[in-house]
Amino acid sequence: MRANPRFVGGRILRNVGHGIFYRMEVAVPDRVEFVPGQFAMVSGWPGNDPLLPRPLAIFRSGGTRVSGTVEFVYKVVGRGTALLSGLHEGDPLSITLPLGNGFRLDDPDRTWWLAGGGVGFSTVFPAGMALSQGRSDFEMFLGARTREQLPPRDWTPGGNVPGRVHLCTDDGTAGFHGTVGAALRARLEALKPPEAGRLSILACGPREMLREIAETAGSRGVPAQVSLENHMACGFGVCWGCVTEVREGDGTAYRRVCKEGPVFDAREVVW
Ligand SMILES: Cc1cc2nc3c(=O)[nH]c(=O)nc-3n(C[C@H](O)[C@H](O)[C@H](O)COP(=O)(O)OP(=O)(O)OC[C@H]3O[C@@H](n4cnc5c(N)ncnc54)[C@H](O)[C@@H]3O)c2cc1C
Ligand code: FES
Repeated sequence: MRANPRFVGGRILRNVGHGIFYRMEVAVPDRVEFVPGQFAMVSGWPGNDPLLPRPLAIFRSGGTRVSGTVEFVYKVVGRGTALLSGLHEGDPLSITLPLGNGFRLDDPDRTWWLAGGGVGFSTVFPAGMALSQGRSDFEMFLGARTREQLPPRDWTPGGNVPGRVHLCTDDGTAGFHGTVGAALRARLEALKPPEAGRLSILACGPREMLREIAETAGSRGVPAQVSLENHMACGFGVCWGCVTEVREGDGTAYRRVCKEGPVFDAREVVW
């Protein structure tokens, strides 16, 4: 059953940099149940500047029935994430979670391809962990500008299984020389119709990458779910500051990424 969003006061257990990423583990009052792809609104700075919390994917949760932990992975891109990166063990953190609609992983007989561009891996790795636990068949496409900007291998679900993880770099310093979208397209074009018929794609990353994956998947009739990362203000459906255009009937409509998303059927999104 889907958990209702709630506000919790957390306390940082660890907040450690790994290359360009930070991984933060937070103690929370009780165990957090979440669907991969759901997110939290997080703030940890004193006062009201910046005013708004920042959305981060829920990377992992743990604990017992009476106490919990939750983990986030983030990249510093501006003021909010820079402030988060300066927090230490014992500092308080305000968190609202779990928010939004995550990935639908309910068909055990499918083959899954998970695509993460940049820090988008933090949204698809939890899906990989869930698929691993369910013994489902999946492969991972991970893209970054350079080798140094790829996620650590030991964070990658199935990272040690030969052939499971396809690395892509814009500068060719690791794996496929090119984008995740191009690697995925090349591999999909090589699949025979029965194999493509069993495939489902999950993706998170820059919008251009998601658009390319949506187009490629659509051309082979492969279902794809994309997690959008629009700017957010409230995070729970009140301000309409995060909308995206979707197809509806003969026309289009707007959907709130924080409430109806962040995961959408790729065919639905107006790119
Ligand atoms: C549902 C969801 C889940 C997310 N999960 C993660 C996560 O797990 N890890 C992570 O590192 N980031 C994640 N993000 C993105 C993260 O929320 C932003 O990077 C963060 O809010 C930036 O805040 P800031 O104050 O550091 O930067 P700001 O000062 O707000 O912005 C700095 C720069 O980053 C750009 N920027 C800000 N927000 C976004 C965004 N959403 N997408 C693209 N560019 C943006 C701005 O245009 C600006 O150029 C997620 C976003 C959403 C909507
Ligand atoms: S961020 Fe306010 S409605 Fe989505």
